[in-house]
Amino acid sequence: MSAPTHIPVLLQETIEALDVQPGGRYIDCTLGDGGHAVAILDHSSPGGQLLGIDADPDAIKISEARLQAYSSSTLIINENFVNLQAICIKYDFFPVHGILFDLGLSSHQLNSDSRGFSFQHEAPLDMRLSPSQEVSAAEIINTSSETKLAHLIKTYGEESYSHKIAHRIVQERPIRTTLQLARTIEQVIGSRRGKIHPATRTFQALRIAVNQELEHLEAVLRQAMNLLGFEGRLVVISYHSLEDRIVKQFMQQESKDCICPPSIPICTCGHTAYLKLINKKVITPSSAEVQLNPRSRSAKLRAAERLTTQAQDDQYKTIEKLCFSVGIKTGGWRKPALLKKLRQTFSAP
Ligand SMILES: C[S@@+](CC[C@H](N)C(=O)[O-])C[C@H]1O[C@@H](n2cnc3c(N)ncnc32)[C@H](O)[C@@H]1O
Repeated sequence: MSAPTHIPVLLQETIEALDVQPGGRYIDCTLGDGGHAVAILDHSSPGGQLLGIDADPDAIKISEARLQAYSSSTLIINENFVNLQAICIKYDFFPVHGILFDLGLSSHQLNSDSRGFSFQHEAPLDMRLSPSQEVSAAEIINTSSETKLAHLIKTYGEESYSHKIAHRIVQERPIRTTLQLARTIEQVIGSRRGKIHPATRTFQALRIAVNQELEHLEAVLRQAMNLLGFEGRLVVISYHSLEDRIVKQFMQQESKDCICPPSIPICTCGHTAYLKLINKKVITPSSAEVQLNPRSRSAKLRAAERLTTQAQDDQYKTIEKLCFSVGIKTGGWRKPALLKKLRQTFSAP
């Protein structure tokens, strides 16, 4: 389970986008091998704290071992990030200075010969992030109607041969392993397709369906935004256009004061901006990074900052004055940390 190690993607860019500061409090919602987490802990030292979440118990074991030296400042939870808000409330871990999502799979998961994520290794068609999930890829492949399969492969894989592939799958069933499925797809669209393997899109579609990836991403972004302290950062690295579209639309919508359709002359939505976009253009890996780590090639990083309203700003100026009056050094660091220090000071016996 140890080698090869997952290489964290856009590492420096992530630390910058999160604006990691000493003493800050961060959440890594996709802990994986803990590569980003280690960098966050290093940059937030002294005094930094990290809540790390992963749905995969194997990833939890790997990251726990890797983050052992940081155990006093780290809380690691084996959960699906769709429950982010409940987790943070349970462990009293909010507001936070930054939240990271590095979506998709780690190299360990992709290279595993038991998880079924890759068409390059023979494995049972599983694809579940966690064994506690009920539905595996084999179940979807072997029990869905042809129409449902075609729709799924089209929608989640953006595969133009979805109907032909679904038809062939139904003829070939039962299909139990990754290579059996890959060969079935090759029979429909041939063994080569430009730079990508012919099974790439169907495997992506299945993985998304098994793990409800898009639904969970949509649900968690709002939770994450609400857990950010003022000026806290939300950073998302996505690896395919369906994920990136959700992130882009969410960040764009939440950074607008009005989201009425352009045809409506006067605003009726009452929406106010919660976020400010950090990078107007999406951040992608340099060619040097792609050369070093080909898996980074499709990565897209988007970042946004939680806005402060005038009223909140006034409130914090008062808090800062209060801190000063009771001798708390604010250290120029962000406001949620001040609140914490204040709470500690005033609740002390
Ligand atoms: C690309 S890897 C993260 C790698 C990590 N940033 C590192 O540097 O080692 C993505 C991780 O997110 C986890 N993951 C994906 N979707 C998840 C979800 N809905 N809830 C919790 N973990 C999830 C996967 O199990 C995987 O370990």
